[in-house]
Amino acid sequence: TTTAVSLKDAYKNDFLIGTALNTPQIEERDPKAAALIPVQFNAVTPENCMKAENIHPQWDQYTFDLSDKLVAYAAKHNIKVNGHTLIWHSQLPQFARRIKDVDSFKTFFTNHINTVASRYKGKVFSWDVVNEALNEDGTMRKSIFLDKIGDGFVTEAFRLAEKASPGTELYYNDYNNEQPKKREGCIALVKKVQAAGVRIDGVGIQGHWHLGRVPFKDIEESILAYHALGLKVMITELDIEMLPRNFQGADVNQRQASNPALNPYANGIPDSLLQQQAADYANLFKLFLKHKDKITRVTFWGVNDGQSWLNGWPIPGRTNYPLLFDRAFNPKPAYHAVMALKK
Ligand code: G3I
Repeated sequence: TTTAVSLKDAYKNDFLIGTALNTPQIEERDPKAAALIPVQFNAVTPENCMKAENIHPQWDQYTFDLSDKLVAYAAKHNIKVNGHTLIWHSQLPQFARRIKDVDSFKTFFTNHINTVASRYKGKVFSWDVVNEALNEDGTMRKSIFLDKIGDGFVTEAFRLAEKASPGTELYYNDYNNEQPKKREGCIALVKKVQAAGVRIDGVGIQGHWHLGRVPFKDIEESILAYHALGLKVMITELDIEMLPRNFQGADVNQRQASNPALNPYANGIPDSLLQQQAADYANLFKLFLKHKDKITRVTFWGVNDGQSWLNGWPIPGRTNYPLLFDRAFNPKPAYHAVMALKK
């Protein structure tokens, strides 16, 4: 056997390997990323440019430039595009948030899905049709969609997406939906769509997990549960953050970039943490390989540590290390551990 030289190559018989793309990456203004992305990945998800706030800023105005570039870039490199996302309570344009009457809101909802999904018909492989509609306890999240349309908005979104873009795979995407209560809510939501005779092809488990605390058992139970509904399962936004969320011992109100708790490893990441992250990623990919008949894609939420959303969130100045490539695009121990599983 020949040795694989990249993630997508190593896992080519198992599942797609994806990454989120930010604006400089889509515009190929980041030469190191431009060199690495087509080698390592065969799937991409736009990190922000297809969100309603960006692609549909006014009632009658759509800004497709960047999304068109993304689709062209992917086609050039034979990369599959997962559209992200048609219906999400967050990143909604101001005009949509301000709509008061139900009929106008329904018109916005319908127009948005019709216009965006039909533009990329045959050009995107799949859509995250609805994103993050659930609370942690499995109930429907309070949102303008629930408020104006009722909980049938999820089914309606899938119905409209199917009409506008037949043949495109249609997914529900959420975080923590590997956790038992939220999983139950997710199963109920999927069953409702299916009972209405509307197509849903898969569930995305985002996979924003924490070093040393990856919930392997919940993940495996969820893969099995979603598969049992006849769905494909994807890990859609994978990262394993290295810093604690609760900033033990830190003054979280001290928001300056100089706050040492925001960047505790400025002088180098302890090897033990890099090894722990490598073990976490390797154990995850072992699990994914065990269920490769059910999992169709594993997408990382960003190319390298420096480009991850976890750097600025929840506190500006925070410096995190959640991905497989470091800030200089060098593969980390986690990369080698994931590759070693296929040697
Ligand atoms: O591009 C503007 C820039 O012009 C402006 O000056 C600056 C000032 O705030 O904002 C920039 O936009 C930011 C954008 O990221 C690009 O960096 C937005 O404020 C910021 O809110 C946005 O954050 C994104 C976040 O979703 C909210 O949409 C993150 O990049 C993105 O990684 C994150 O992704 C989400 C998934 O879509 C859904 N699941 C959770 C995941 C993580 O939150």
